[in-house]
Parts: sequence; C-alpha cells; structure tokens
Amino acid sequence: MPTPRQIQVTVNGRRYESTVEPRLTLADYLRHEISLPGTHVGCEHGVCGACTVLWNGRAVRSCIMLAVQADGSEITTVEGLATDGALNPIQQAFLEEHGLQCGFCTPGFLMTVTEMLEHNPNPSDEEIYDYLGGQICRCTGYQSILAAVRSAIQKKASA
Ligand code: FES
Ligand code: FES
Repeated sequence: MPTPRQIQVTVNGRRYESTVEPRLTLADYLRHEISLPGTHVGCEHGVCGACTVLWNGRAVRSCIMLAVQADGSEITTVEGLATDGALNPIQQAFLEEHGLQCGFCTPGFLMTVTEMLEHNPNPSDEEIYDYLGGQICRCTGYQSILAAVRSAIQKKASA
C-alpha cells in the first residue's frame, strides 16, 4: 500500500493542507477532497478537456495530473473566476452568446480561454481554433463558443 503524502496547495487563493494517496488525481482531489465540483471529469484520460484547470497559470488536464504533483503550487478552478458572485467577462460572454448548452464542457473551455487571453489578448480566429482544438463539446456545434470567445475579447479590451 503506497504511503499517503502531505501536500499544500493554494486553490482560488485559499491555502489547503491535505494528506492524499499518491495515486489520487488532481481532479478527484479538487472535487472530492476539497469540495470544488466545478471541475468536470469526462473521458478521464486527457482527451476531452472538461477537467482543465490552471496550474501556476498554465492550463492542464487535472484528470491526468496527480494531486501530489500539485504540491506547493497555485491552482485556479472555474469556481475562482467570478468575484463576489459577479461573472467575469469571459463567463458573461459565454452566457450572453449561448456558448453552452448542457454545460458539461464549459469549465474546461472557460479555463482554457482564460489562459489564452492571458497570453494573447487579441487572438486571430486561427489562433482561437488552435487553442481550443483540444476542448470537446458535444452540444453546441462550437459556433456559439467561438462567438462567446470573440465577445470575451471585446469585453476584456473595453474593461
Ligand atoms: S476528463 Fe480530463 S481530459 Fe477528459
Ligand atoms: S455544452 Fe454540452 S458538452 Fe458542451
């Protein structure tokens, strides 16, 4: 039986200290150990992007990362995007442009768009396609998601 490990992580600005099994995924840690179920788990093998979170500012798939690998790092999940209940411009754009239907893929899209606009505030359509190419949505047909991303770019530029 592997020995449980002590980890310290900061998630959405709050510091957590936990004892975890070495094989526990970051996704399961977030959802089940510290009660942040906004990160969704779909394929569980790194393909769909639903579980995307920011790890020290970089978008990663939390279903194929271990909680112990996050020791000492800063994580942002979808729960960390709004401020005092007010949606941020990316969330607002997805809402207004109907960038979601069932919403299962949405946390992953929001976190990936967050990282993209952090590094490239005015991406071309081709760059958006490249960035979001690893995120799978089974409902929207993607056009409304692209509209939401374009709207988010405008909102952030005028904020
Ligand atoms: S659940 Fe992690 S990539 Fe699909
Ligand atoms: S909104 Fe249903 S999977 Fe994307």
